[in-house]
Amino acid sequence: MNQDDLKRLVGTAALDYVKADSVIGVGTGSTVNCFIEALINSGLRIEAAVSSSEATTRLLEAGGIQVVDLNQTGGLDVYIDGADEFDAHRRLIKGGGGALTREKIVAAASKKFVCIADQSKQVKVLGTFPLPLEVIPLARSLVARRMVALGGQPEWRENFTTDNGNWILDIHNLDLVDPVDMEKTINNLAGVVTCGLFAIRPADMVLMATKDGIKLL
Ligand code: 5RP
Repeated sequence: MNQDDLKRLVGTAALDYVKADSVIGVGTGSTVNCFIEALINSGLRIEAAVSSSEATTRLLEAGGIQVVDLNQTGGLDVYIDGADEFDAHRRLIKGGGGALTREKIVAAASKKFVCIADQSKQVKVLGTFPLPLEVIPLARSLVARRMVALGGQPEWRENFTTDNGNWILDIHNLDLVDPVDMEKTINNLAGVVTCGLFAIRPADMVLMATKDGIKLL
């Protein structure tokens, strides 16, 4: 099984957490795209979806799934999304696709966050994957200097603008032994819109695709 097979496997497995006629939250990325494809092909009817990105919205709508604004729905039962890294406590790094802000909002609005990932994303300590930060453009250099002071090496994701009109800094080599503390620290920096650490509010479960099947964390 290659990585694409594993993504399809876990995308399909996530259907077990979707109730008929419900409104669900849907994340962003290639693993989530497999979930969307599985959902469309399953014939399982949902009322609507709250989307975490313009890319996801396009896919959902192309498949005939209605996309609604979170302001119209209130709380959601379930949010399905991928991750760039996860640890044994289901804490995540997200934002490789740049959709971290809306992802964090939809995750916060959901009772259950089901993370779907293949086993290559599992780590002992978060931080091999550079940590994405969405920043207000004016604050790019300021936030970069603050992140250097915190021990990281920021890299501006050039030629990329988020769905919210902001920029991304990818922070390399940050010490994330205490990801909750680091998330709080970064959240307090002026100019940071969202930090790609999902540690204060981790996933409620991780469905991990392995060559031996789905494992639940
Ligand atoms: C997008 C994300 C994605 O969930 C993350 O990048 C994983 O993507 P993929 O499933 O393509 O590996 O956080 O902002």
